[in-house]
Amino acid sequence: MSMRTTTNQKLLAWVQEVAELTKPDSIEWCDGSDQEFDRLTKLLITNGTLIRLNEQKRPNSFLARSNPSDVARAEDRTFICSEREIDSGPTNNWVDPTEMKSTLTGLFEGSMRGRTMYVIPFSMGPLGSELSQLGVEITDSAYVVVNMKSMTRMGEQALAEIEKEDKFVKALHSVGSPLLNGEVDVPWPCNDTKYIVQFPESREIWSFGSGYGGNSLLGKKCYALRIASAIGRDEGWLAEHMLILKLTSPENTVHHITAAFPSACGKTNLAMLVPTLPNWKVETIGDDIAWMRAGKDGKLRAINPEAGFFGVAPGTSYATNPMAMDALKKNVIFTNVALTDDGDIWWEGMDGEPPRHAIDWLGNDWTPESKTKAAHPNSRFTVAAKQAPCIADTWEDPEGVVIDAILFGGRRATNVPLVFESFNWQHGVFLGATVASETTAAAEGAVGELRRDPFAMLPFCGYNMAHYWNHWLKMPLSGVQLPRIYQVNWFRKGKKGEFLWPGFGDNSRVLAWIIKRLDGSVEADTTPLGRIPKKSDLDLTGLEISDEQFKELFEVDKSSWLVEADLTADYFAQFGKELPTQMETELTELRARLT
Ligand code: GTP
Ligand code: SPV
Ligand code: MN
Repeated sequence: MSMRTTTNQKLLAWVQEVAELTKPDSIEWCDGSDQEFDRLTKLLITNGTLIRLNEQKRPNSFLARSNPSDVARAEDRTFICSEREIDSGPTNNWVDPTEMKSTLTGLFEGSMRGRTMYVIPFSMGPLGSELSQLGVEITDSAYVVVNMKSMTRMGEQALAEIEKEDKFVKALHSVGSPLLNGEVDVPWPCNDTKYIVQFPESREIWSFGSGYGGNSLLGKKCYALRIASAIGRDEGWLAEHMLILKLTSPENTVHHITAAFPSACGKTNLAMLVPTLPNWKVETIGDDIAWMRAGKDGKLRAINPEAGFFGVAPGTSYATNPMAMDALKKNVIFTNVALTDDGDIWWEGMDGEPPRHAIDWLGNDWTPESKTKAAHPNSRFTVAAKQAPCIADTWEDPEGVVIDAILFGGRRATNVPLVFESFNWQHGVFLGATVASETTAAAEGAVGELRRDPFAMLPFCGYNMAHYWNHWLKMPLSGVQLPRIYQVNWFRKGKKGEFLWPGFGDNSRVLAWIIKRLDGSVEADTTPLGRIPKKSDLDLTGLEISDEQFKELFEVDKSSWLVEADLTADYFAQFGKELPTQMETELTELRARLT
């Protein structure tokens, strides 16, 4: 057990203050070592939180089953408590920060009784990179500690950076389940009352009541998106819900692409894509978050602030994502997947036949005849990024990689073509601002309904969404060389409800067209929405796509787009006078092109 505390007075004082408020039995400073990981996983096994998987089949890997009420991000309980309500905006929940602090102080009072309080120093981004940011999470969950070890650079070295920089974001987390009078713990402690709160001005996070993913691994959504987007607004950079991939062509030219898709809409898949087009190669820089800013060379550069993947399990298979499957061979924490009789894991969509018997995510017997799912639809794996065979050798480049194209996408059964190119930067920002997608199990609530998810940032923007659009619109003023913007949709369906596009590895065909556009080697056809490929320029070799199907994939139905334009106008109306006028201009021009 690490006896190290810190020479940083600010951190020492904060730890003291939190301990006085939350009253833990003990305090542990996490060093991020393998010994610490082994000790904590053993403790979690004793408590019933983790099950060790078959050492032969899945070495050093574990299964956690959450409380059935704590399976996804709690968007209703997520707050952006800026000093002024207008700075939080109509798409975020807001409470006056003083009032919220008082509510939270009440909740955190004694909330760690009977538990250990862990202090986790961490870096978002490569240690010591100028693009990285430091933080400390205080938590009463050992499950959080062992997950943070894969997801961030945490422990001893991060603490040394904090002592050098004297600057860090305070991220406080409690499952909100004190153990009073020697009460025995439950496998997944949590609280029905949940608060996931960001204070953008003071750069603080307070999270209460949930142990799950984005609610509790505070470096991820709370810091690297909500707090970082507010820092980026103030400092002139971008914190985005985007994958970053490195694409090498058969001619050996290298490009980097980022893509913003809503939660559980294919970022991990695209980041790890195995191209079906011969001699193209995709390597991964990041699968969920990108921090982008102008480099010294005047180009837009991106880093992945994370060190691991917290990926959706169901649907992951050798057919859909072989690179992820290979990354998951060892050292993985699985949450809410099924347990097989031989001590391995399973989920819906995995290759081969379902097991004849398994224990489902709730701990009940399950067989293929069962009416329920064996794995929760939002079940996930936590694994270090360096374990993926497709990780790029530049993924930790402290300077970041140069971004050549930005993609926006969502799940759209209708209307949105497979791919189109924006006319210019402002039009591209309009495309990002108007993204809509069918909802998924990544957040609590209904699944499959269409909702607006601008820039895939609806649940993650740490300030007023209209101000965020304005921040994007102002990027060209900084003189930075900006990438081109595209919209993609892998999810368009035909009349019989079938996907019109095979997707997955075949998405490389779309990436290849984008590269041809970037190097100026092909012309495009103009539609009211943007520029689409000529059929001869989209390499469809080996696919059976008829002219009819191609037409359906790219069809722009003017009457339904006019309806969509009306819906966009309604959506924009909620932002009142904060809405950048350029967005209205773009909408007017879209309508004009449609009529
Ligand atoms: P978060 O981690 O929640 O931010 O999401 P993500 O965007 O990384 O999601 P992920 O890549 O895990 O999305 C997985 C879901 O998208 C699964 O349901 C996949 O089947 C589906 N998916 C990914 N790529 C494609 C595709 O090209 N076509 C189709 N039809 N489905 C896809
Ligand atoms: C998402 O929901 O976009 C995720 C998973 O990446 S979580 O970290 O739980 O938010
Ligand atoms: Mn995400």
